[in-house]
Amino acid sequence: MEQSTQQALNIRLMCADDVPQVFDIERESFNDSSWTIDAFYHEILKNNFAYYFVIEFDNTIVGYVGLWLVIDQAQITTIAIKKEKRGCGLGQLLLRYAMQYAQTKCDTMSLEVRVDNTIAQHVYKNLGFKYGGKRKNYYGEGEDAMVMWVTLR
Ligand SMILES: CC(C)(COP(=O)(O)OP(=O)(O)OC[C@H]1O[C@@H](n2cnc3c(N)ncnc32)[C@H](O)[C@@H]1OP(=O)(O)O)[C@@H](O)C(=O)NCCC(=O)NCCS
Repeated sequence: MEQSTQQALNIRLMCADDVPQVFDIERESFNDSSWTIDAFYHEILKNNFAYYFVIEFDNTIVGYVGLWLVIDQAQITTIAIKKEKRGCGLGQLLLRYAMQYAQTKCDTMSLEVRVDNTIAQHVYKNLGFKYGGKRKNYYGEGEDAMVMWVTLR
């Protein structure tokens, strides 16, 4: 990545004011299965286990990731990058940041991913995630999830 690009990137905790921008990315990323906007407000404002981060490019939010840190286990709840910014390394950068953040408290991290989401699986494998099993009908009838996990420390 060029020096000028690096300077334009910033990762920080998500706040309630960010939710409308995040929700736009959520809708273009997950279509029918997207969370509601209230689910994001709940996570940010009410869930004590939840940590959400946004990645900004030139002060505009271009992606987000959610984590639950429960005792010694971390769970990725969601991750998405704005369509026009995908394939530039931002997803991997954001996930690596989340892993480093979680590492201070947790031993392992896990996530669920659709069995046909090969791009996301590729990103997770790049960062050391391994196949941990399948959850039948996790996303609805006939839509299975693959569980993936990684040791953080
Ligand atoms: C999954 C997602 C977050 C990845 O973010 P991203 O910024 O596009 O990914 P990166 O640019 O960091 O790519 C990392 C790797 O995936 C590969 N990749 C990314 N997009 C790809 C594409 N469209 N086709 C093939 N490979 C792709 C890259 O080549 C890179 O692999 P490499 O380092 O081995 O070359 C993003 O695609 C996304 O938002 N998808 C929609 C939401 C989603 O599916 N979230 C995951 C739910 S579990």
